[in-house]
Amino acid sequence: MEYYEQEKNIDAYIKMAEGYDGRELITELIKYLPQNSSVLEIGMGPGTDLTLLEEYYKEHVTGSDYSEFFIDRYRNNHPDANLIVLNAITLKTDRKFHGLYSNKVLIHLTREELKQSIKRQADILEPEGIICHSFWRGDKEENYDGLLFMYYSAEYLQKLFEDSFDVIKIENYQEMEPDDSLYIIARKN
Ligand SMILES: C[S@@+](CC[C@H](N)C(=O)[O-])C[C@H]1O[C@@H](n2cnc3c(N)ncnc32)[C@H](O)[C@@H]1O
Repeated sequence: MEYYEQEKNIDAYIKMAEGYDGRELITELIKYLPQNSSVLEIGMGPGTDLTLLEEYYKEHVTGSDYSEFFIDRYRNNHPDANLIVLNAITLKTDRKFHGLYSNKVLIHLTREELKQSIKRQADILEPEGIICHSFWRGDKEENYDGLLFMYYSAEYLQKLFEDSFDVIKIENYQEMEPDDSLYIIARKN
């Protein structure tokens, strides 16, 4: 069973993530993705960022995760939310979105899975659709309790995304320590 499919791990994760949110990333996304756009959050987890996205994009936001635990928990407190179960690798949906957002989700994919995900992201985006994703910055991979953590450099991300996207910016930012993270904003080409 995958890490995030086990309820004990989800409880531990929610505790660890308390106090962190993607407000800074969403402020960036808003500069490139206007208010009435449809947005899909990939890997919504407990939904901290989803709530922030809903403040701006309202009912045009859809949350997703591959873990039904997260989806069910969020739905209990937000019965009107648009939520779907989706794996970030395959993104099996017929719907199209103007924007895709994720915060420290694609770091759990292998490099090959990330390549697959990027192709699918281009498929499920409207023309000139925008992506905004964050990653841990570096050049290593770690495994905790069977959960993979990949670290990426700006150069590597640029190469991965530039086949299907025009990269607008890749910037460092701080989650816990200075420059420990980076985000990419890009437009489907
Ligand atoms: C760092 S959390 C996201 C936190 C979220 N941004 C928030 O505001 O609470 C990572 C999430 O990625 C999800 N995840 C990991 N691998 C995934 C995959 N292959 N497909 C979909 N979701 C995945 C996990 O279930 C977890 O909810």
